[in-house]
Amino acid sequence: MDPNTLQLLVAEAWSPHPLIRVFRLRAEDGAALPPFEAGAHLRVRVTLADATVDWRQYSLVNFAPVRNATVAPAEYLIAVRKEAEGRGGSRYMHERLQAGDRLVAERPRNDFPLHTGPGGTVLVAGGIGVTPLASMAARRKAEGLPVQLHYAGASRDAMAFLPELQALLGDALHVHADAERGGPLDIAAVLDAVPAGDRLYVCGPKPMLDAVLAQTQARGWAHDRVHFELFNAPAVEEGDQPFEIELAQSGQRFTVAADQTILDCLIANGCDPLHDCNRGECGVCAVPVLDGEIDHRDYVLSAREKAAGNVIQVCISRAAPGARLVLDI
Ligand code: FES
Repeated sequence: MDPNTLQLLVAEAWSPHPLIRVFRLRAEDGAALPPFEAGAHLRVRVTLADATVDWRQYSLVNFAPVRNATVAPAEYLIAVRKEAEGRGGSRYMHERLQAGDRLVAERPRNDFPLHTGPGGTVLVAGGIGVTPLASMAARRKAEGLPVQLHYAGASRDAMAFLPELQALLGDALHVHADAERGGPLDIAAVLDAVPAGDRLYVCGPKPMLDAVLAQTQARGWAHDRVHFELFNAPAVEEGDQPFEIELAQSGQRFTVAADQTILDCLIANGCDPLHDCNRGECGVCAVPVLDGEIDHRDYVLSAREKAAGNVIQVCISRAAPGARLVLDI
């Protein structure tokens, strides 16, 4: 068996809210599981609605403020938000995976690590994006270092793990329920209150991430002070239109549907493009562009690279309205 593969058993599964399902996963043989660090995720194998097999990644949650809590864990805890618009990965986790079922996963990997060094840690979570930040909060508590968590969601009943976070953080937990406050989290106010020298970690939906990044840039914050992970898969935005791509090396032409990414279109047509994060963060899926205007939506390319317009992250970016892209593949 691939040493990177884990055979897990669903020890427990429950839904604290109709859109959230939480799973406790153990090794099939009962042995200790591989270690993970705060911010890490687990890639699990899912079966989509069209019966194809795919992978989804979910952050590993730890609430124990103890240094060795995740060195040889007896179980993994993950939480999955049901995405109505998705391709079926979260529906599989919600509707088909039950306690007692087996689940294939890969060893945990961390693309969203905490950093060492002076200064405190401010965490900003949107919805189920709280999962990696919960582990970060526990880690900082274990280290005896200052940490604050701003946790925003539509309403308290739709916000996972509030009791656990309250117990872990006490006054350092700041809950913002839109339904109670009559609107979304005031990001400017949160940023204004961050002490100079503290680092910021953000995980949530794209509008929240975009707002935080725009406002930290406008305030002139150093790039390495702001760390983020986009929670949900990249989505296609309202009003997106189909467009055509041409593969210059083969002359093939495909239409990317309004609800499809270029990456998905390439895969559906038998191509095998490199990709990893599938949400515009890692840079792996970059493809040279020979012609056509790009609607850049990634978090990888610099402003200068975006303006130059000769490379695209195909997992998330699209053609500008009315444009057609010629890709150098
Ligand atoms: S796959 Fe990571 S940026 Fe596209």
